[in-house]
Amino acid sequence: MDGMRFSASDIAAINDRHSVRAYLPHAVDDALLAHVLTQARCAPSGANLQPGSFVQVRGDVRQTLSTQLTAAWRNGQQEVEDYAYFPKPMPMTLLKRQVAAAQALYGALGVSRDDRAGRDAQFERNFRFFDAPVALVVTLERGFGPGGFMDLGMALYGLMLAAHAHGLATCAIGALASYPSLIRTHLDLSNDAVVVCGMALGYADPAAPVNQTRTARCHVNDFFTVVG
Ligand SMILES: Cc1cc2nc3c(=O)[nH]c(=O)nc-3n(C[C@H](O)[C@H](O)[C@H](O)COP(=O)(O)O)c2cc1C
Repeated sequence: MDGMRFSASDIAAINDRHSVRAYLPHAVDDALLAHVLTQARCAPSGANLQPGSFVQVRGDVRQTLSTQLTAAWRNGQQEVEDYAYFPKPMPMTLLKRQVAAAQALYGALGVSRDDRAGRDAQFERNFRFFDAPVALVVTLERGFGPGGFMDLGMALYGLMLAAHAHGLATCAIGALASYPSLIRTHLDLSNDAVVVCGMALGYADPAAPVNQTRTARCHVNDFFTVVG
């Protein structure tokens, strides 16, 4: 309830943004894309190193990359990942949140828990960047520790908010990090480029059921304590 007192000053984009996994076919103006990326770069970073790069993947390269990624995943191909995203084992509190997010996604799609084909079909869409007009691969200079990921994460959120402010929608795609070598090969990237994630960007399809997915957040008391 206390939050209500302050909501008039909230940044609307923070409350309204959500991951979008279906897009209208409208193209995104190149200048607008460059603008939101420029805004993303306003993110702070340790020593102002501004780590990370964004690669837009288009045309035949995108088509081939998506086909190869999908085939690799369908065939159960596994690569050594550049970094481990999730803690192993996953603590129960986090596991519950992961399950809730999956339920929100598959619930919006009407895909039941035991519908393996339905879940796989949705998962495969990761590798097509959800057919968004803009497909980005996000990389980080190899050698960075968690600090670099932290800085890049701020830029990623900056990109999401800037995009939202311009009527665009986004979805980060961590699933791409399962195939770093395949991605480097197809995008002609050096081994120095750690594949962090993908990003779909474009105009949301308001009629798509998947875009009704909404996730909850834990209460402030669950992650904030006061000492002294
Ligand atoms: C770094 C990162 C990677 C993600 N990877 C995926 C992904 O591979 N596939 C997907 O459908 N959603 C992905 N998401 C979206 C999350 O599931 C989503 O952010 C979370 O459930 C909260 O929902 P919201 O973004 O709608 O607020 C990713 C989000 C982040 C920040």
